[in-house]
Amino acid sequence: MDITELIARFTHAFGRRPTFVARAPGRVNLIGEHTDYNDGFVLPMAIDRDVTIVGAPRDDGVVRLHSANFGDETHFALDHIARATDGAWSNYARGVADVLQRAGLALHGFDGVIHGEVPIGSGLSSSAAIEMATLMAFAAAGAVGPAPLNLDGPQAARLAQRAENEFVGVNCGIMDQFISSLGKAGRALFIDCRSLAYEFVPMPTGVTVLVVDTSAPRSLAASAYNERRAQCEQAAHVLGVRALRDVSVETFERRRSELPDPIARRAAHVVHENQRVLEAVAALRANDVATFGRLMNHSHDSLRDLYGVSSKELDAVVEIARSVPGVYGARMTGAGFGGCAIALVDDAQVAELTQAVEREYPRRTGREPKIYVCTASEGAGWRSL
Ligand code: GLA
Repeated sequence: MDITELIARFTHAFGRRPTFVARAPGRVNLIGEHTDYNDGFVLPMAIDRDVTIVGAPRDDGVVRLHSANFGDETHFALDHIARATDGAWSNYARGVADVLQRAGLALHGFDGVIHGEVPIGSGLSSSAAIEMATLMAFAAAGAVGPAPLNLDGPQAARLAQRAENEFVGVNCGIMDQFISSLGKAGRALFIDCRSLAYEFVPMPTGVTVLVVDTSAPRSLAASAYNERRAQCEQAAHVLGVRALRDVSVETFERRRSELPDPIARRAAHVVHENQRVLEAVAALRANDVATFGRLMNHSHDSLRDLYGVSSKELDAVVEIARSVPGVYGARMTGAGFGGCAIALVDDAQVAELTQAVEREYPRRTGREPKIYVCTASEGAGWRSL
C-alpha cells in the first residue's frame, strides 16, 4: 500500500488530512544470534520492508490508530494506558506510549493509520518495527506541539525494547529495536550490545541477501527463548562472569567441563558466535565474501547442534541453499523455531536459488516458502506531509 493510498485511508477514517508520516523497518540478522542478551556482538541489517504510520496530532491526549492490515481500530487515553482488549497489535503502540511517559517524556496524542509490510510473526521483527514507528509518530506529533522527544537513536531503541519487555511481556534483547532505529542503506550494523557502541559496515556489492520464510508456525519460540536465556545466565554464574560476553574462546574451552550439559553446549554456541561476529566484521571490511559465508554456515550449524533453536524447515532451506552454486553461506535468522532463513548469494545466481527453494522446499516439508530479496535500508524516521 503506497503513501497516497494511506493518506486516502486516513482522510476517510478521520475526516481530515494527515500532517506527518513515520516509518520503521524490519530486519534480518546476518550473524550473531542469541548473543545480544549475553552482552555480546550482533551484525543485523534493516530491510526494505517497513511499518508506516500516517498521522496528525490531536489536542485531547488520545491516540486513535486504524490498522490498514486488519481493518480494525484502537484508541487509548495517554493518562490511562491499559492493555488492549481489542486488536493485540495495539499493545506495541500502547507499550511505547506507556514507557515514554514513565521515562518522563510529555506526549502528544495523534490520529493515525498504521500499515505494515514486514511479514507478521515470521522472525523479521515486525513488532520492533511497530514499536519504532509508533515512537517516531510520537516524535512527529510532539514536534508540532510543545513536546519534542529529542531522543537519539540508541535511546529510542532502549525505550522501544523496554516497551516490549515490560508492557508486551516479551523478554527480548536490544538487537531488533536497535537496528530498526539506526539502520542505514547499503550498510550492516555492528553492535556491541553491552556498551551500545555501534559501527556501520558496508555490505559487499555483487551479492544478494535472499530471505526465505519457512511458513512454519513459531509456537515454542517464547518459552524456549526464555529457557535459553536462563541457561546462559546459569553458565555465566558458574564461570563467575557478569555475562557470557566476558568469556573468551580459550578460557571457555579450558573450563568447559565445569558446566553440565546442555548448559555447556548453549554457552559454547554463544562464546564462539561472539568470536564469529568479530571475524565476520573483519571479513566484510576486507570484502572477503567467501569467509563471511563460511562464518554464516558455522553459525547455523552451531544454532542447530549446540543451541537447539533450529527446526527441520529451517535446516531444509539451509541445505537446499548450500547446494546451489554461487551461494556463499546460509543460516537461520532471528530467534529460531520456524521463521526465516537467509542466504548470501551471487547476484547472478538469485534466480537459480529461488527456483531451487521453490522446487525442493515443498517436496521436503509439505509447506510453501515465501521468498524475499532484501536490501540494507534506512532506519526509523518521520517527515511532514
Ligand atoms: C529475537 C530477539 C532478539 C535476539 C534474537 C536472537 O529476535 O528479539 O533480541 O535475541 O531473537 O538473536
